[in-house]
Amino acid sequence: MKLSKRLATIDALITEPEDIIWDCCCDHGYLGLALLKRNAANKVVFVDIVPDLMANLELLLLRVSSAQSMHSNNDQWQVLCKDVGTIKLTSDTKQVVVIAGVGGELLLKLMQQVVANNSMHIIQNVRFILCPVQHTYTLRTGLDLLGLGLLSEQIIVDNKRFYEVIEVSFNSNTTLSKTGDMMWQYDNAVHKAYKQQLLNHYTKMLNKDALYYQKVITDYQGLIDS
Ligand SMILES: C[S@@+](CC[C@H](N)C(=O)[O-])C[C@H]1O[C@@H](n2cnc3c(N)ncnc32)[C@H](O)[C@@H]1O
Repeated sequence: MKLSKRLATIDALITEPEDIIWDCCCDHGYLGLALLKRNAANKVVFVDIVPDLMANLELLLLRVSSAQSMHSNNDQWQVLCKDVGTIKLTSDTKQVVVIAGVGGELLLKLMQQVVANNSMHIIQNVRFILCPVQHTYTLRTGLDLLGLGLLSEQIIVDNKRFYEVIEVSFNSNTTLSKTGDMMWQYDNAVHKAYKQQLLNHYTKMLNKDALYYQKVITDYQGLIDS
């Protein structure tokens, strides 16, 4: 199974062996399956809130495990049917939490819950790789308020849609900007098109809250020359 460009970009950020990788909001589980296949971690934990999806994924994993003599559940992989906001991270492990494919506002809510439900002693060493569907300005504002710092950020186009892949950690002292200061390339046509799409969107939002959205527009306009 070939990963989409978006999921392949996330996959490519996991280069060092990990103890645990959390594929949160995993749906079909394509990302976690690819990570499992290349032994990117001792264990891949798949989390999604929809029971049918998780039951099917578990059956698939059991089939793959027996075909490849992979170890069973709770060893190399685990399927959790639950709200991502309630996950309990493990202490003393090198782990990455991936949350991708949900709206930026929901993603922020899940991150706030994960941070509230796990002790800072554990969570400070966790790397989070986030890829929201839109609402990145809100997400970035909230992540910064939580105290998360930037590790990396990039813009990608997949299936004619723009996405930001944002890597953050409590261990980073680099401030996460609301507009993704580090990810823009001044001469890149794709980046210019993405910026224009954001400006068009926030201009339409001005009639909802002129003061707030004018500030958002001004922040994006301050980034690069069009
Ligand atoms: C579009 S899929 C994303 C799949 C994959 N992560 C990707 O990026 O392609 C979104 C998934 O998020 C799951 N989801 C939404 N809210 C959730 C929550 N609070 N906890 C766990 N899963 C959730 C949905 O059930 C759905 O399967």
